[in-house]
Amino acid sequence: MALLLSILLALLASVIGGLYLLGMFRRRKPEEPPLDKGLIPWLGYALEFRNNTAAFLQKMQKKHGDIFTVQIAGYYFTFVMDPLSFGPIVKESKTYLDFDQFAKELVARVFRYYSGTNEHKMLEKSSTKHLMGDGLVLMTQAMMDNLQNLMLHDIGGNDSERKWHRDGLFNYSYNIVFRAGYLALYGNEPAKSKDSTDKAKEHDRQHSEELFHEFRKYDKLFPRLAYAVLPPKDKMEAERLKRMFWNMLSVKNTLQKENISGWISEQQQQREELGMPEYMQDRFMFLLLWASQGNTGPASFWFMLYLMKHPEAMQAVREEVQAILKETGQQVKPGGPLINLTREMLQKTPVMDSAVEETLRLTAAPVLIRAVKQNMNIKMASGNEFAIRKGDRVALFPYIAVQVDPEVHPDPEKFKYDRFLNPNGTKKTEFYKKGKKLKYYTMPWGAGTSICPGRFFAVNELKQFVFLMLTYFEFELENPDEEIPTIDPKRWGFGTMQPTREVQFKYRLRF
Ligand code: HEM
Repeated sequence: MALLLSILLALLASVIGGLYLLGMFRRRKPEEPPLDKGLIPWLGYALEFRNNTAAFLQKMQKKHGDIFTVQIAGYYFTFVMDPLSFGPIVKESKTYLDFDQFAKELVARVFRYYSGTNEHKMLEKSSTKHLMGDGLVLMTQAMMDNLQNLMLHDIGGNDSERKWHRDGLFNYSYNIVFRAGYLALYGNEPAKSKDSTDKAKEHDRQHSEELFHEFRKYDKLFPRLAYAVLPPKDKMEAERLKRMFWNMLSVKNTLQKENISGWISEQQQQREELGMPEYMQDRFMFLLLWASQGNTGPASFWFMLYLMKHPEAMQAVREEVQAILKETGQQVKPGGPLINLTREMLQKTPVMDSAVEETLRLTAAPVLIRAVKQNMNIKMASGNEFAIRKGDRVALFPYIAVQVDPEVHPDPEKFKYDRFLNPNGTKKTEFYKKGKKLKYYTMPWGAGTSICPGRFFAVNELKQFVFLMLTYFEFELENPDEEIPTIDPKRWGFGTMQPTREVQFKYRLRF
């Protein structure tokens, strides 16, 4: 009898424990934000969130207002949707809201990279040195050299080069910007002698093409990989690809290259000095490839497409490009030297800067997540204060909260190339909500401790690509009346969005 009773008690305890884990007993306390657990125990709103994050959060905002807690796959996420209230969250100290913990879990699951302590500080330092300020002079030059190798290697060849080439605009833009960005960061094939320079360049073209081809396969699997919902066959493919990248980008292979960027070489050296095993450093190399190349290529597609669909924007950018060439005494002509475009020249492009910002406002949509380390309060701009529990997560989705809010950006669905320009041609930074000036009026790069360290380099890459397209090529859409494709809703939250379909275009050298 006693045995039976203890078995029953143990069973009861495990059922209650299970229900607790499934979140059945969680109730909203009066001082907490509205709580919505969804109908499915533990999973909560995971499926809806994954299928279309933007639509889901819009619905929740309508239902609950500017702050609410939802259950997603066993975690409680508090979303703050009022951009006037972003400041305290973005700036909150690590003792309360921690980015590292969430990022570490994600890279361990998706990239099998297990980071040590202080790695975020090392990344910040290295990025400030090599991807910003003076560091950008070298990076811009390296990007230019590689873009020219990929885009113009057969320039001045025979007449057949004047023939139209046909391609998908997404594929073309992503391909070129990915490969040039990769070569600029990870280095070039060494030319053993002067005569072998052309061979080395050809090797760079071939090798980067292979890498891009494989990267796209991984890219397509990525959202489901991050949500851990890949079917077994795709899971095996993701595993195969990962191993292939670890090998292709291994420390051994990379160190054979020349012109390796300071950003890559310094971070590798730091890990070596810390005694990190080489196989783990190889994994880190792939992680950096993912972070550095997964967003800029898709962004270059949208940038090109918006310009092509908005002739007034194209004209304004074209005039700016021509003015820069004129100011620096450069001319593009058959048989003439390739143009040079320096970091300094790229600092004088307010029109392109605004057009890039506008492109990213419409197409960059990260979800920014922090782990809650201690019970805390969030004070909203309205003056209301809400209690948040330790162990939960706090998240922002600026795309819906601010980037397409009509109160902040009138006609938010429209591409206005000069939205971020003042009438006097300077950068516009004044945007308002409820009569109050916003600090966070667009957030393609995230904010605070996890803000994208490659943002200045990325903007340069986009401008360099479009600059070269405009100076060396004629290009048009195969069907100029074709609508701009919709955004693939399965990728919300992962950075720059991708289109649901390709857009065909043609291009040819101007001479
Ligand atoms: C249009 C292009 C790009 C966009 C829209 C973009 C966006 C972002 C965003 C939103 C984050 C923060 C994610 C978070 O808070 O969870 C991020 C992080 C990061 N980005 Fe970018 N990025 C771009 C290009 C680049 C480039 C070119 C590089 C490097 C050369 C780069 C390197 C990184 C790295 C290393 C991180 C992780 C930072 C950390 O752990 O704190 N990104 N990026």
